Amino acid sequence: MVETARDTLKRLAPTISVGMLAANLMELGADLALIEQAGVRIMHFDVMDGVFCPMMTLGPPVVRATKTRMLKDVHLMICDPLPKLADYVAAGADIVTVHVESEPTHIHRVFQSLGGMTNANDPERGIVRGVAINPGTPVGAIGPVLDDVELVVLLAINPGWGGQKLLASTGERVAEVREMIGDRDILIGLDGGITRDNISEVAAMGADLVVTGSAVFDGKAPVENAKTMLAGVRSQKSKV
Ligand code: DX5
Ligand code: ZN
Repeated sequence: MVETARDTLKRLAPTISVGMLAANLMELGADLALIEQAGVRIMHFDVMDGVFCPMMTLGPPVVRATKTRMLKDVHLMICDPLPKLADYVAAGADIVTVHVESEPTHIHRVFQSLGGMTNANDPERGIVRGVAINPGTPVGAIGPVLDDVELVVLLAINPGWGGQKLLASTGERVAEVREMIGDRDILIGLDGGITRDNISEVAAMGADLVVTGSAVFDGKAPVENAKTMLAGVRSQKSKV
């Protein structure tokens, strides 16, 4: 029987999802092979449309063209995601995360729609639905969709660029979200500003999925960095 993407996430948690934008895009295949060897099982695509946030990055063709055994974690920082979801799913997304701030889309409808879609890699794998929330949005905004998602991703920076500094409010916001989730079977992700220096602190906040880009692909030692980040995120678990 095929393991669902949700069960894979739960089995791996706490773990990291590595942002591919920070890799050497001319050698993307080789860079991805390196982090996979280091034990990374999830890769993160930051999709930005130049409207929801200033930068423009990539769309479904890049998700589709990226050949990997790792789960494809697609973070949509775009306006009006609803009509675009099917293209990302058809391109092979295993995790689709949509911002609660995305307009003009009706966010509840986004997750209902995603819930009816089939994973293009394997129909039995299912799709993990994630809701993302920016640091400036009160966490209560995700309340109405908590029964329709499997993952909540808190941004620890403002969306738009890698390499920013983790905001001090993050720990408190994770605790608030955990309380809101209560008994529901929902994983918590953290994205942005997570480095070798603060990974233990972030692990202690209790994140299941830590997104990290520039700390792994620093142009020097991606394998060693990925191993360090994986060990760091797991360190808290071994203490409890
Ligand atoms: C920011 C993105 C993040 C970010 C991560 O808009 O969602 O995924 O690029 O990069 P680092 O780890 O460099 O902060
Ligand atoms: Zn991201």
